[in-house]
Order: sequence, then C-alpha cells, then structure tokens
Amino acid sequence: MSAQIIDGKAIAAAITDKVALGVAERVAKGQRVPGLAVVLVGGDPASQIYVGSKRKMCEKVGFISKAFDLPATTSQEALLTLIDELNEDATIDGILVQFPLPDGLDETTVIERINPHKDVDGFHPYNVGRLAQRIPVMRSCTPRGMISMIESTGVEMRGKNAVVVGASNIVGRPMTLELLLAGCTTTCCHRFTEDLKSHVERADILVVARGKADFIPGEWVKEGAIVLDVGINRLENGKIAGDVGFEKAKERAAWISPVPGGVGPMTVATLIENTLFACNEFHS
Ligand code: GUN
Repeated sequence: MSAQIIDGKAIAAAITDKVALGVAERVAKGQRVPGLAVVLVGGDPASQIYVGSKRKMCEKVGFISKAFDLPATTSQEALLTLIDELNEDATIDGILVQFPLPDGLDETTVIERINPHKDVDGFHPYNVGRLAQRIPVMRSCTPRGMISMIESTGVEMRGKNAVVVGASNIVGRPMTLELLLAGCTTTCCHRFTEDLKSHVERADILVVARGKADFIPGEWVKEGAIVLDVGINRLENGKIAGDVGFEKAKERAAWISPVPGGVGPMTVATLIENTLFACNEFHS
C-alpha cells in the first residue's frame, strides 16, 4: 500500500479562501474588518519566520494586522500592559503572543492575561477547560487544524484508536482532547510512557509531536493508519524532516501528512479562522 497524502497546504488554502470571503461579507454589510495583534518578544529565528507567515496571511485575507516586535529585555510588566491595552482595543479581535518567550517572562501569566474571547491560540485555561468539558469555543490552532485534516480524508473518527505522541500544552494535550471529543479511544504518550512501540502499533490515528527527526520508525505504523506528523526538524544536510520515518510509514499508512506542507500551514489557517470567528461571535 502507498498512502494518500493529506495535503495541508491545499486544505489551508481552502480555509483561508473561505475566511477572505467572510471578511468581504462583513465589508459588504458595512462592518469593520477583523484585527489580529501578533506580538513577538526577542529575535528567535524560527519564531520570526512563524510570525512573518501569520502576519502575511492576515494581509492576504484582508484583516488588520498589528505587529509588535519587542526586545528580549522587555519586562513582564510591560508585556502585560501591552496585553491589557490590546484587550481594550475595539479594533483587535485576536491577540497572539508567539512562544517561546525569552527567559524571565512567564508564559502562563501572559496566557492568563489575554481576554479568553481574544485568545485565538486557544491556550487560555478557560478555552482548554471548555474543550475538556466538550463545549469548545476557541480551539488551539494546530490540534483543530489536524482535526480538519482528518475530516478531509472522510474516515470516521468515532471508535478509532488514536495515539498522540507528545504531551505539550500547545499540541499534545489539546490534540488528545480534540480526538476524545471526536469519539476516538485516545492515548497520550509522553516522556514516562513505557513501551512506546506497543502504543504506536495499534494506532488507527497517529499524531506525533515530539520535535525529533525519525523519532517514530515508519515500520511501527499500523497498516491502514492515518498519520499526522507535527515535527519540523532541520537535518544536517539542510533538508526539513518530520518526526516519523516518512518513506516506510508511507508504505503502511492509508493517509499521511508530509513535512513540509502538512500540519504547518494548517496552524496559520486555523489561527485566521479563529480570528474571524472571534470577530463575528464576540466583538462585532
Ligand atoms: N509557538 C509554536 N507554536 C505556536 C503557536 O501555535 N502559537 C504561539 N503563540 N506560539 C507558538
């Protein structure tokens, strides 16, 4: 078997086209366009690239994009003051503070300061709690994007064994909750998991977010599985690879997301989708 590719780039493009249409509809009704504030603290090169693509996508769909590039020496107090101002700003529907933050700044405090209805990342405990209670409002971008990818295959999720490798607040934990909400029997593997292979081998849906190239050998993948690879790892030869051994996994899976062009574009598309949703639902 050779897996079908889940083309994240194409699915993301369809989502952003829909968002652009939603913006045009607002404009036609005389309503304001949605606004997203993207805050970058310090000069982490990877974060600069991610933030750049988020800002570019805002412009493409017709949002107002407010950019805040703060020095790594920014104090916690100054960052919280900026968030307070953005919470009060009626032209802003979403606030995104790019992580990781430089040493000395506390991510949890920052997340909790953002108005949950402007938390387009879906990281606030209010939003994670709502998801845990099966009443989601703002959903974390990468996990929500991956659910859209699974839906695109047409495969029924209810009753499937789903295995998530990685338990981060940004991807692994919310993805575990998303899959549970979708009706999967869900396992979350993490650094203390024993016999990882035995879990991976029975995954009908496998999500890997470990950040290590070839962390999951393709031979472990169950025949006919759906594989979503969140990893973006730069190899010594300069190429980008995911966390799953792609070539072997492709021979076994029914569906697989490539790296690049898989999960990555979906994070940005879902962020844009969340911002329009917040604008329509909470701040019209
Ligand atoms: N750092 C890595 N991924 C993300 C994300 O989705 N949102 C934010 N704010 N920071 C990140």
